[in-house]
Amino acid sequence: MSAPILRGLHDLRAATLPWRLAGETIGVVPTMGALHDGHLSLVAAAKAVCTRVIVTIFVNPRQFGSPEDLARYPRTEEADAAKLARFGIDAIYVPDGDQMYPEGFATTVSVSGLTEVMDGIHRPGHFEGVATVVAKLFAQTAATDAFFGEKDFQQLQVVRRMARDLDIPITVHGCPTIREEDGLAMSSRNLLLSGRARSLASALPEQMQIVARAAAAGEGFSDAQAAAIRVLDQVGFTSVDYLEMRANDDLALLEAPTRPARLFAAAWLAGVRLIDNIAVEG
Ligand code: PAF
Repeated sequence: MSAPILRGLHDLRAATLPWRLAGETIGVVPTMGALHDGHLSLVAAAKAVCTRVIVTIFVNPRQFGSPEDLARYPRTEEADAAKLARFGIDAIYVPDGDQMYPEGFATTVSVSGLTEVMDGIHRPGHFEGVATVVAKLFAQTAATDAFFGEKDFQQLQVVRRMARDLDIPITVHGCPTIREEDGLAMSSRNLLLSGRARSLASALPEQMQIVARAAAAGEGFSDAQAAAIRVLDQVGFTSVDYLEMRANDDLALLEAPTRPARLFAAAWLAGVRLIDNIAVEG
């Protein structure tokens, strides 16, 4: 059965109040829509842990760097609701811009440290937009649990830090990245890749695996990194924003996996920015 679509905060609060009074657990899966199997795995994880589940769909203007990028972000609400029908969730919350940022809105949530590397540098203002909207969604849904994909690992760590620092009583769950058959991490942005570009995109996870294996084997990280960037360039990627090994907890840059580490990459193919990360076995 399809879940009710709630567009107003008043309706959302009316729905969640009895759940909260009954001491139920409420899981929230924040999304920007264009749902794929990666999102649906978060919904399944939420269903397994919580008695109530809310999926939010809001294309958050504050986390986009340019109006063009915001405008071309896929919007597929009807199809999204259809994909969610089989999960038996309790509500789909689809606020509009005025609901989230009414006139006079003047607050920004900013997390230092974790946001000063990788996408924090390449997408100025992005994590302020994410932290602000996620803090609002946590407050609005009064969720006890939240579910995020490890595909956006930096975002996951930023959200965890934000919730901890603001004493928001919520457990943030990180869920494994779901991949296409050729290894490409699922992302709503993959829809923007044309047929040929899509077939080239799997070079990114392939090269990342090679670099991660080299790092795990104790081979020189910078040689493996440089070789991978060369291959991506030959394949047709127009630029690589970063291909770096960093510690899981504080995202410190590493030359060797001396503590739990991941390899992070962001690269451009046919005008689409792809990001990914994988564990480096130490
Ligand atoms: O990962 C996303 O889709 C977005 O950054 C999020 C967490 C829904 C906030 O807008």
